[in-house]
Amino acid sequence: MACWLFTSCAAPAQRLTTGDMSITRPGATAVVVVHSRSGNTAALGLRISEAMGSDYIRLETPPGAGDTYLSYTERNDKVDINPRSADLARYRLVFLGSPIWFWHPTAFIYTFINNNDLSGKKVVLFYTNQGGLAKDAIDEWKAIVQKRGGTVIDVIGINRNEFENDAALQSEIKTQVEKHKRVWINKSD
Ligand SMILES: Cc1cc2nc3c(=O)[nH]c(=O)nc-3n(C[C@H](O)[C@H](O)[C@H](O)COP(=O)(O)O)c2cc1C
Repeated sequence: MACWLFTSCAAPAQRLTTGDMSITRPGATAVVVVHSRSGNTAALGLRISEAMGSDYIRLETPPGAGDTYLSYTERNDKVDINPRSADLARYRLVFLGSPIWFWHPTAFIYTFINNNDLSGKKVVLFYTNQGGLAKDAIDEWKAIVQKRGGTVIDVIGINRNEFENDAALQSEIKTQVEKHKRVWINKSD
């Protein structure tokens, strides 16, 4: 049974400063929006942002969310996030990232998507996990994006169980981003 089921095994929530929450790059035509509790999905998002020269927004969530089994929020719950929405007008490409919680992306990224108009946007979904996803998890996520007008052009996921240590994980993140970057550029033109 995977370790994440037991609260004693949960990695601590990352301590964040204002500088961790956003990056703005002049002339960016892409943006990364990510929910991340313990920093893994944020690391993937930051690598994407660097590779694509994109802006970056990390969603602020209520303290303690996901720290224990009991503080988990069901993916269709309405939850508080900051920012609730973003001005996406200048972006052609939107990267949306989330950890997997209880076999699905989290309520925080779902709420951001539902609060925003993705009409005309190309969208890349990304996630990290440490076990498994529901069979329909990605299809459901795609459908929510499509309902808001976005077109999903790619999905990138990294299962942390496949890596022995953080160095191996970071190396895989770098490799995967380099591999997918060409697809993102070609399909967003
Ligand atoms: C409340 C909670 C539930 C989780 N449920 C799952 C799950 O169903 N499947 C899975 O593969 N990983 C699950 N995980 C593991 C996370 O997806 C994994 O650790 C992820 O890399 C965390 O991302 P973060 O560091 O960006 O927060 C869960 C973690 C937490 C805290």
